[in-house]
Amino acid sequence: MTKVSIIGAGNVGATVAQYLATKNLCDVVMLDINEGAAKGKALDLTQAIALTGGSAKITGTSDYKDTAGSQVIVITAGSPRKPGMSRDDLLKINASIVAGAARQSHRHSPNAIFVVVSNPLDIMAYLVWKETGVSTSRVIGMAGVLDSARFQSFIAEELKVSAEDVRAMVLGGHGDLMVPLPRFSTVNGVPITELISKKKIDAMCKRTANGGAEIVNHLKTGSAWYAPGAATAAMVEAIITGGRKLYPCSVHTGEKHGLPAVFTGLPVVIGKRGVERVIKLKLNKDEIAALQASAKSIEENVKRLNELQAEAAKPAAEAALSAAPAAPPADASTKATDTSAKS
Ligand SMILES: NC(=O)c1ccc[n+]([C@@H]2O[C@H](COP(=O)([O-])OP(=O)(O)OC[C@H]3O[C@@H](n4cnc5c(N)ncnc54)[C@H](O)[C@@H]3O)[C@@H](O)[C@H]2O)c1
Repeated sequence: MTKVSIIGAGNVGATVAQYLATKNLCDVVMLDINEGAAKGKALDLTQAIALTGGSAKITGTSDYKDTAGSQVIVITAGSPRKPGMSRDDLLKINASIVAGAARQSHRHSPNAIFVVVSNPLDIMAYLVWKETGVSTSRVIGMAGVLDSARFQSFIAEELKVSAEDVRAMVLGGHGDLMVPLPRFSTVNGVPITELISKKKIDAMCKRTANGGAEIVNHLKTGSAWYAPGAATAAMVEAIITGGRKLYPCSVHTGEKHGLPAVFTGLPVVIGKRGVERVIKLKLNKDEIAALQASAKSIEENVKRLNELQAEAAKPAAEAALSAAPAAPPADASTKATDTSAKS
């Protein structure tokens, strides 16, 4: 069976595992720095499958060796937001965790496609690409599928129609400047601009951009996981089944819409090779301006990330100059370690 490894067996990671296992799509390895949590959740899920059916093997571990040969690596390791925190506040905490997770899992699964979930999402997707050196088609950030699902649910609620019949498109970064696109959002092909007033659509776009924070404010101690888990599992399914699904995902911009070279939400077709195609929509002036503003803010955070990494590397380089020659490389061990204190 296809093997998918999930780095970070917290709320989102375990929910992704549950969706994949329940659909019997693949064997799942859950890796966490907290070995007990990974092992305990894997056992619990295995026992759930005895009731729901299927033959997926679920393993919990803290050793990257157990992830070897994965077709897809999902990165959910790191901290979620607390009330009042922006996703960008997480940059410092999560950068070193995600960089270590990317390097270690790439070493054991050199052909894997990465689905990145940890926040700040677009910056972490860029970081995974940078740390692994894989082609841009093999790193896909999960944001647009979730943000579009949130927009879809608000549209369905407003129109009192089945959410299944609603298709929505949210592009740009996974933050306050995300770009919901009402012109490309429909109910069974009918644009919502024909069905809902501009005032109401504007309010729904705003609620979508604040969709994550709305849940954080209720929960007080973490962020959402059911919809993020379902969105991530849908992307993994499209990859391992060669589903060729058109989803908004955070991908490298290339030359699209005159955007800076960052990872941001664009419509893409995903399948066996990861990003199979980036679709160029005919956006109007306002939509392009909003997408550019969002990409610009991601570009600024990528700069901040590069600065943080350079600062963190300085003491290590100085120590290396004065250290004995036989010191092992920082992440030579295959066990997950807490690297968050470094930056
Ligand atoms: N992209 C999105 O749309 C989206 C949606 C929801 C959550 N998120 C992000 O996903 C991440 C996970 O969220 P969550 O709710 O599952 O958090 P969580 O705290 O429940 O789980 C995070 C897990 O990562 C583990 N971890 C920490 N450092 C590690 C390391 N070095 N190696 C391996 N595992 C490590 C923790 O032990 C924990 O189990 C957060 O950054 C959150 O902001 C993104």
